Amino acid sequence: MSSHPIDMRLSPLIGVNQLVVPPTFEADLKGILIPKGYADARIEKLAAEISEAPVKGDLLAICVLNGAMHFYDKLIGQIAQPVEVDTIRLGSYNGTSSTGVIREYPFDYSKCQGRDVLVVEDIIDTGRTLEKLVGRIRAENLLSLRVACLLDKPERRDFTVTLKPDHIGFVIPDLFVVGYGLDFNNRYRGLAHISVLKDELTR
Ligand code: IMP
Ligand code: MG
Repeated sequence: MSSHPIDMRLSPLIGVNQLVVPPTFEADLKGILIPKGYADARIEKLAAEISEAPVKGDLLAICVLNGAMHFYDKLIGQIAQPVEVDTIRLGSYNGTSSTGVIREYPFDYSKCQGRDVLVVEDIIDTGRTLEKLVGRIRAENLLSLRVACLLDKPERRDFTVTLKPDHIGFVIPDLFVVGYGLDFNNRYRGLAHISVLKDELTR
C-alpha cells in the first residue's frame, strides 16, 4: 500500500525550449525535471494508494500551504472517499535555505481528534517542517495518520529527523525546484512543470 517513489536523481533535465514555458521564466531555469503530465500521472497513483486504506467517516485532508496547494487539489479530486478539506499554513523558508525557524500560523489542532487524517505537503527537504507538524497533529488522539509528499530530497535530510512520509511521488536530487505550486520567494508557483532554477539565482 505504501508507495514506491519514482527516482529522478539521475534523470537528465528537459530543455526549456523542449516544452512550453512562459518566456518571462525561460532565462531563470536550468531545465525541467518533471513535466506536469508526469506529475499528474504519479498523483493519480498516490490517490489510488490512499483510497485503499479504510477510513471511518470522512478523511480529514490537511493541505500545507502554500506550496502544496496544486498537488493537494489534484490529489483530493481523485481520492475515492469523502474528504473534508482543511489547510494549515507553515513556513521556514527564506530564499533557498531553510531558516530553521518554523513560522506558525493559528490552527485548531483539536479538530483532528478521533479522525483519519492525511497531511499533504509539497516537498520534504531537511524534514524539520513536516516532523514538527506531524508531531503536533499526532498528539491529538487520532484514528489514523498518513503523510503524502509530492517530492523528497533525501540528501538534505536533518540527521535528527525520523519521519518518513507514507506516500511519496518522486525522489529528486539536491536542487532547488519551482513550479507546480512550489516557489522561490513567492515566484514561479504558476509555472506548469517542476523545474530547476539556475544556480546563480539561488545562491
Ligand atoms: P524542510 O523543513 O527543510 O523539510 O522544508 C520543507 C519546506 O521547504 C517545504 O514545505 C517547501 O515549502 C520548502 N522547500 C524545500 N525545498 C524546496 C525547493 O526545492 N523548492 C521550493 N520549496 C522548497
Ligand atoms: Mg511546503
